[in-house]
Amino acid sequence: MTADGLNTSFTRMVDATPEEYSVIARHSLAFQQELPERVLRHLGLLASDTGGYAVDRLTHSLQTATRAHREGRDEEYVVCALVHDIGDTLASLNHSELAAVILEPFVSEENHWIVKHHGIFQGYYFFHHLGLDRNLRDRYRGHPHWQACAHFCAAYDQNSFDPGYDTLPLDFFAPMVRRVFSAPRRSIYLPADATADTPGNGGR
Ligand SMILES: [Fe+2]
Ligand SMILES: [Fe+2]
Repeated sequence: MTADGLNTSFTRMVDATPEEYSVIARHSLAFQQELPERVLRHLGLLASDTGGYAVDRLTHSLQTATRAHREGRDEEYVVCALVHDIGDTLASLNHSELAAVILEPFVSEENHWIVKHHGIFQGYYFFHHLGLDRNLRDRYRGHPHWQACAHFCAAYDQNSFDPGYDTLPLDFFAPMVRRVFSAPRRSIYLPADATADTPGNGGR
């Protein structure tokens, strides 16, 4: 550990001490607390492209969240709606999965499933225009969350490309993002039925 106690000096994890990992844990906690701001900044990146649609990707995301909010969906669901396409920039071929991974510690199993599978379910509305099978979602028929995912796409996602819609701004949703992303429900490092109050491990 360095003299100021703010950083460690080991160069291989195998040499680290518990004291050094208490330093790492403090840094990790502070970094985690900034997660909502990073999510908000990354959502902002979606404004840079339309993908050929009538609105840019951020507007589409905001409109999806706005529709969910106006239909009375709870805060966690609305945040999922807002974040569902955040993977577009870095996971352009499997964007649903990236959004789902980001949300997973903070949302219900159903909401996670909806976000993870929304890409295939959304395909019901356009895959056939591209020579693909629009019913690809039917591979999940009988799954307990099939209807919930189908409804997400039907009611909020497939219809959120309208430049004339009264879409709420990102600032409106920012407090919701901060609340949802600061209250982890579980950790991938704990058993599935355990509550996560120590979500991070400072690992790399
Ligand atoms: Fe999507
Ligand atoms: Fe979408």
